[in-house]
Amino acid sequence: MLATEQKRKLLKGKDLITTADWTKEELDVALELAHEMKAQRFTHPYSECLKLKTFLMFFYNPSVRTRQSFECASNELSGSAMFLEPKAMRLKTATSAGETVEDAARVMSRYGVGIGLRILEDKIASYGEGDDLLREYAQYSDVPIISMAHDKYHPCQGLADMMGMQEHMGDVKGKTCLVYWGHGALARSWCSVQEALLLYPRYGMNIVLAHPEGYDLDPEVVEKSREFCKQTGATFTETNDPVECYKNVDIVYSRNWMSPQAYYGGELHKQEEIEKSLKYPQWICDEDKMKLTRNGKGLFIHPMPVDRGHEVSDEVCSGPRSIIVDVAENRLHAQKSVMALTMGDI
Ligand code: CP
Repeated sequence: MLATEQKRKLLKGKDLITTADWTKEELDVALELAHEMKAQRFTHPYSECLKLKTFLMFFYNPSVRTRQSFECASNELSGSAMFLEPKAMRLKTATSAGETVEDAARVMSRYGVGIGLRILEDKIASYGEGDDLLREYAQYSDVPIISMAHDKYHPCQGLADMMGMQEHMGDVKGKTCLVYWGHGALARSWCSVQEALLLYPRYGMNIVLAHPEGYDLDPEVVEKSREFCKQTGATFTETNDPVECYKNVDIVYSRNWMSPQAYYGGELHKQEEIEKSLKYPQWICDEDKMKLTRNGKGLFIHPMPVDRGHEVSDEVCSGPRSIIVDVAENRLHAQKSVMALTMGDI
């Protein structure tokens, strides 16, 4: 049995592209440290573990929580974060000459102690390209590559969710999460819900996945989620019923996601997706449906930003059983943990 300190040191240099790439024991180490860092926010012994060091953040898409929580996390570990956008660089693309990922990654990893990347929806020509890009950076970088949300996964969100659920439910083993497609006007990526499907069952949570016909997620991710459920004795159920699925669940994760038909002809057809999605107004998490949850007291979780009035009603979103702001705060603590473990001098 390794001591806690030794287990922590073993994570140095590790990429985080999805939690599914980490062992359960590694995730336990990260979550335990995240809870510890939350409890000792400005007094934790690792508070100087990034002193004089820089985390490079490369955003193809906008953000509120991710940018701010990584910047605060870097500061609270006595380092700093640098915000970069593609327009500030001269990268090679499908249509223009420029620097390759290999060259950019090799050079950036001489400057920073870690590189975060966000690439979503409209910045790719087909599903999977974002994940390929992160893995290409990881191939050439000498420092950890951290997903700050990409087309397939959102690992920091998953860790923050799990922290929030542990805070509000204690041991989550045997609890049931309804992962629910909400109609919406944003045509969202699959990253957050797919991360949830991969992470929650590893902690023994049952999954109910509910969406209208035609809104299937990545079949490989769904299959992997089923496998994780089997490994921990959890159940996995998929349904197209927008109401019955609420019965006796412990927590509802309502989120819009785009259909598998969203990309064709080398681009995302966002407006078509939005128009299609808005034809399903019954797919909203509201107080009437929440009454069907276990003892009528199910929690509500969402990664934010919320599309209120579509994904969820104001009443549920701002209600007493909504844990969304706690989870948003946990992004900070989860990321401090990941940065300390993968990049810090601890
Ligand atoms: N949940 C999340 O990633 O939020 P932002 O898009 O604001 O970063």
